Amino acid sequence: MALVSTKEILEKADKGGYAVGAFNINNMETVIAIIDGAVELNSPVIVEVSEGAIRYMGIKMAVGMVKSLAEEVPIPVALHLDHGKRWDTVIDAIENGFTSVMIDASDKPYNDNVEITKKVVDVAHKAGVSVEAELGRLPGSEDELSVEEREAFLVDPEQAESFVAQTGIDFLAPAIGTSHGAFKFKGESKLDFERLKLVKEKTQIPLVLHGASSVNENLIETAIKYGIELQGARGLSDDILRRAVREGINKVNTDTDLRIAFTAGIRKILLEDSRVFDPRKILGPARDFMKEVVKERIEVLGSVNK
Ligand code: G3H
Ligand code: 13P
Ligand code: ZN
Repeated sequence: MALVSTKEILEKADKGGYAVGAFNINNMETVIAIIDGAVELNSPVIVEVSEGAIRYMGIKMAVGMVKSLAEEVPIPVALHLDHGKRWDTVIDAIENGFTSVMIDASDKPYNDNVEITKKVVDVAHKAGVSVEAELGRLPGSEDELSVEEREAFLVDPEQAESFVAQTGIDFLAPAIGTSHGAFKFKGESKLDFERLKLVKEKTQIPLVLHGASSVNENLIETAIKYGIELQGARGLSDDILRRAVREGINKVNTDTDLRIAFTAGIRKILLEDSRVFDPRKILGPARDFMKEVVKERIEVLGSVNK
């Protein structure tokens, strides 16, 4: 079917008490892995593209791949701009058929974040495109910051309420203790659930969890087996993620797990068979590894058959 409104997908998830996976793409293999995985579980899915990914493959290529594959499948597929920082990219995404955009001015002072976000909402809504914004900041791994410093990065629930009212955004990404990449926690994974609960109560809109990759034991074991240096990597456990969904998260972003799976798949085949030089034989297994990640995530988020 044609691309579907991200807002519709997420409002349905909010009402139904589940979350929809938002997976980052960088190439054709990722697009196919994501959409095939979602089709096999009859789940809605959000395909997202970062500014870096747009620089890498071009916006027309990204839209062309996602749109054409979405049209061939029976599940709802949305196309989202991830971490839009530049005005030009946001406008480009709106003009090229994205169904939602994220404007990420979370590193700016609060009033500037409001002003920039509001401007994007005005333009995007006129075009029927929904908008995500972020409040609070996602730091790097735990190693880089003290507990107090990390705490200072988290979202303020009162501010979240005003932010939503002032900007008119459709979904909010509140910083509640995750970070991007493969090294999120030193010990067990944890999130500030009290804060999440308050943000949900006060905003009453779909919430987004960034930095949500699992970096689970299987993935690390496979990655290390084929030579990726990932000792000490740790992501968000499935239990913590399930609880976050119960407390009001409706969109869950995953990139790192896909990157690890892709690279592990490529390294596996190249290490196991030095006679292989057909790209399809190298990228095919990588695609299969990523599809398994997508399916595992969808099961945890509860969007199977939705
Ligand atoms: O949250 C960021 C995503 O993982 C995209 O990363 O900007 O390196 O493409 P990127
Ligand atoms: P991970 O690095 O945990 O996969 O997070 C991805 C993300 O938040 C994309 O916006
Ligand atoms: Zn993110």
